[in-house]
Amino acid sequence: MQKPQIHIVLGTRPEIIKLSPVLSEFKRRRIRYKLIHTGQHYSLNMDKIFFKDLMIPEPDYLLGVGPGPQGSQTGKILIKIEKIFLKERPDVVLVEGDTNSVFATALAATKLKIKLAHVEAGLRSFYGEMPEEINRILTDHISDYLFAPTQISKENLLNEGIDKSKIFVIGNTIVDATLKNISIAVKKSKILSRLNVLKDNYFLLTLHRMENVDIKERLKDIISSIKELCKNYLVVFPAHPRTTKMINEFNLTKNVKKIKNLRVIDPVGYLDFLKLEANARLVLTDSGGIQEETCILNVPCVTLRENTERPETITVGSNVIVGLKQKTIIDGVHKMLKKKRNWKHPFGDGKSGQKIVDILIKV
Ligand code: UD1
Ligand code: UDP
Repeated sequence: MQKPQIHIVLGTRPEIIKLSPVLSEFKRRRIRYKLIHTGQHYSLNMDKIFFKDLMIPEPDYLLGVGPGPQGSQTGKILIKIEKIFLKERPDVVLVEGDTNSVFATALAATKLKIKLAHVEAGLRSFYGEMPEEINRILTDHISDYLFAPTQISKENLLNEGIDKSKIFVIGNTIVDATLKNISIAVKKSKILSRLNVLKDNYFLLTLHRMENVDIKERLKDIISSIKELCKNYLVVFPAHPRTTKMINEFNLTKNVKKIKNLRVIDPVGYLDFLKLEANARLVLTDSGGIQEETCILNVPCVTLRENTERPETITVGSNVIVGLKQKTIIDGVHKMLKKKRNWKHPFGDGKSGQKIVDILIKV
């Protein structure tokens, strides 16, 4: 039997992290594939650092697309990746998540009748204004292999009429990545001493959702709630470049700098981030992946959004959704500080990478 030609496409920080278990499984089994990087993320600390931390080989193709408005970014990726698919004619293309890189790749592959496999299929926030929700729904509906992390994500797909023969519940590759790298991080990362912070003595904050940071009033509200929290707690904030850019554009830099107890730092690599996360007393975030990782690491999470596509974290009790109002944020923090950290995460057994490869090689 001839082996399928497999292309793996990634473009942003979470895709690099969540595809790393699949890539290491390919390496372990000595299976050939081609790796394509769209270049949606490109700064050293949003891109290269993850290749180094996770020991991922250089991509075969770098599209160098960079930033841009939603449509232009998606369009640029589509144009560039189609050329590669036309030249290489892969049998199957694998994407992960819900970014513009994912949807552009999905569209290019489908139009060329190349099989499409989607890792993290079936997540739904049911908030249609979120660019990622659009990317997820569209990608799922044109995928041939849908790797759903949980039964809930499978149900979402079935409810939208997707055929059950295409859906594989295999857990989330973030479990593989977290469990493998946390032990390395514990040994290697010196981030706590570098920042001069102690275990359980700080909160960790991340923020980057377009609907939170691109609207001045919302960003201002979040910053004033953080200021309130900083009266009592030390907060470490590795700021996403989108957020730094918007803080500057809205002239909020001075407001942020003035907050005592807020430590704003550049984004950090995966090992440093896992160490910061695992040792935090609590995490405040609007990130998808971080809602999952905190659940896996038994660290309480407060989600600064009105909805989540990870409802499993709410059910097991690792996470609360608090929106953007100061009162609900502070109440959420107090609630989560009292939480017993004994929940069991619902995202699988840490062998999702192997399960994906088992299926892909039979395409
Ligand atoms: C993208 C994804 C989002 C994902 C996030 C992960 C979409 C629609 N959004 O959002 O789902 O959660 O990545 O972090 O695909 N920038 C840099 N350096 C970089 C990358 C970005 O400076 O390496 C700055 C640029 O000013 C850019 C802005 O950040 O304009 C936003 O980057 P972009 O990739 O468009 O969106 P993200 O907010 O990162
Ligand atoms: N992360 C990191 N360094 C940071 C912030 C986040 O390594 O400074 C990792 C984090 O461990 C998680 C992933 O980035 O695995 C989440 O990415 P992000 O929040 O950018 O995107 P989302 O998950 O919301 O799509």
